[in-house]
Amino acid sequence: MTSITLPRPDDWHLHVRDGAAMASVLAHTAAVFGRAILMPNLKPPIDTTAKALAYRERALATLPAGSTFQPLMVLYLTDATTPDEVRAAKASGLVHAIKLYPAGATTNSDHGVSQLDRLDPTLAAMAEVGLPLLVHGEVTDPSVDIFDREAAFLDTIAEPLLERHPTLRMVVEHITTADAVAFVKAARPGVAATITPQHLLLNRNALFEGGVRPHHYCLPVLKREVHRQALLQAATSGDPRFFLGTDSAPHAKHTKEAACGCAGCFTAPHAMSLYATAFEDAGALDKLPDFASRFGPAFYGLPVNADTLTLVREPWTVPDAYTFGEDVVVPLWAGKTLGWRVA
Ligand code: DOR
Ligand code: ZN
Repeated sequence: MTSITLPRPDDWHLHVRDGAAMASVLAHTAAVFGRAILMPNLKPPIDTTAKALAYRERALATLPAGSTFQPLMVLYLTDATTPDEVRAAKASGLVHAIKLYPAGATTNSDHGVSQLDRLDPTLAAMAEVGLPLLVHGEVTDPSVDIFDREAAFLDTIAEPLLERHPTLRMVVEHITTADAVAFVKAARPGVAATITPQHLLLNRNALFEGGVRPHHYCLPVLKREVHRQALLQAATSGDPRFFLGTDSAPHAKHTKEAACGCAGCFTAPHAMSLYATAFEDAGALDKLPDFASRFGPAFYGLPVNADTLTLVREPWTVPDAYTFGEDVVVPLWAGKTLGWRVA
């Protein structure tokens, strides 16, 4: 196969930050994807519908004239999010989900939820109006090994949550383990997962390849090879509960190449090349269109994009860095060659 044409894909998990940084990175996504879920972990967080709508306007203002790219907004769940806020979010028609960051789990999660069961009325309102809960599925207890935090979250938090709210829809974001694959497969209808390119392509050895590799560090952290294999199997299985979410998370180069480096891999420009590489290695390129373009819209109740994207088999070397506001950001795979690029 020398080219593959698919309905224009969407990115169901994306970080674009704000201001000049957003202007730099959102253009890459808008050039390839039709829509993207913009994650709300800004400082301060996007925790009201009013803030989400203003953020959406700022995102749209960065796009080139004529762009049809649609930012899809998400609220950041805090201890103070009320059922009324949930209803306002739904009524806006522009907020598509609410994101749970356990307090302290990751970048800008200090406003996250400290005790989830106290939010039961808010979660009940989400179930009632049909706004899905997107979860960063990791416990934050520092005594739990970092490689076990996802599995622990699913057992101790997600499972009881789904039982308390039998109609709440949930996406376990950026899954990293065989445990998460099994959890989603065994769950009742309305539970799905996104999978990033880095978790399909790399295992935890990539963090220490000849030295510490800060550009391979993201959260949840890369796991063992058996887990990567389970994710690849899920992504290429044709199961509609597993769909594309890059979790492209740009940080300025100097904040990653530091004594305490930030978590996140920047993949917005070449995410489709990375996914195509992973799917081809698994002998399943034919499964890419459903994973990238159809299963996400089906979960969110949105139409599949009407136009298409073509990937061609052509060696392409990933740049060493991209502009990021006043800084630069180093992409995943920098300086290495990929076998597919967007036509
Ligand atoms: O690696 C990550 N980076 N994981 C997250 O959950 C957040 C993200 C970010 O915003 O930088
Ligand atoms: Zn994320």
